Amino acid sequence: MRDSEQNRIISAVLKEEDLDSEVNLRPRKLSEYIGQNKVKETIEVFIRAALQRGEPLDHVLLFGPPGLGKTTLANIISNEMGVNIRTTSGPAIERPGDLASILTGLQHGDVLFIDEVHRLSRTVEEVLYPAMEDFALDIIIGKGPGARSIRIELPRFTLIGATTRAGLMTSPLRDRFGVISRLDYYRVEDLLTIVARAAGILQVEIEHDGAEEIARRSRGTPRIANRLLKRVRDFAQVRAQGIITREVASKALEFLEVDPLGLDQLDRRLLTAIIKNFGGGPVGLETIAASIGEEAGTIEDVYEPFLLQLGMLARTQRGRVATAAAYQHLGIKMPGERQLTLW
Ligand code: ADE
Repeated sequence: MRDSEQNRIISAVLKEEDLDSEVNLRPRKLSEYIGQNKVKETIEVFIRAALQRGEPLDHVLLFGPPGLGKTTLANIISNEMGVNIRTTSGPAIERPGDLASILTGLQHGDVLFIDEVHRLSRTVEEVLYPAMEDFALDIIIGKGPGARSIRIELPRFTLIGATTRAGLMTSPLRDRFGVISRLDYYRVEDLLTIVARAAGILQVEIEHDGAEEIARRSRGTPRIANRLLKRVRDFAQVRAQGIITREVASKALEFLEVDPLGLDQLDRRLLTAIIKNFGGGPVGLETIAASIGEEAGTIEDVYEPFLLQLGMLARTQRGRVATAAAYQHLGIKMPGERQLTLW
């Protein structure tokens, strides 16, 4: 990830500055978790059923764009189940031995949370299969003809995997999750409630309309909403007696160059490049990446999902295309668009 992505105020990717406050603002119980009603209901049923039977929860896969609360949900699940959570990520588990030591350190019922689970290496994944299915580790001892396999029993645990890219997961891994839940961008009403809740925790005075303005420009993402709230709070403190009204929020967000739909300079640069440099597309991802100086993977994982959701960008077999909505939002005339004449 480049600096530009790290510095972006509307980045959905977790930043250093989010850490403390995000942990404080995070809901700890399912009842405090706002939005994602379908996911919440599903998880609630499975948690209750597992608790009633006195069994650990089945393995859960959470997928969806960054910043929508996958880690938060994993923590809530372990909390509601009354078990410990051990958190790691796909790239952090380099060798099968790393995974073996994590697994053997778990207690009965514990949650193992693996973020970016699509980035596990093949060899690590192969150790994970019997662990998930049979709660066992198959270890090969020795080499050559004398090598033998021994099986180590593991405690029954719950694996919670999170990924932004379910499509990149191998199907044997995906098939081993009993519960698969997809998180979607939040509705403005839900983000408004999240902003109001966070303002309460941060003791920031905010009006309903001020919270709504922040919610509207947060790209459906609580992590962004909470970050914008903090920046708007600074602005309100210095320029407006500390109270966040709609006007204060609008001015602050304009100042931060976050437009009324939540796009920032980078989104606009991306769309403008497709329109101005490549005739609106179709143009390949790598070509766009080179033209705006960003990494293709970052564009695909971080910028594109929201632009696709807004209908400003379309993915075709031949590449990306800027849609009429993008032209309209940027105030650029579409080729072939007839001029409105009044006579
Ligand atoms: N903070 C971040 N995400 C949240 C959510 N879904 N509900 C409540 N508070 C949150």
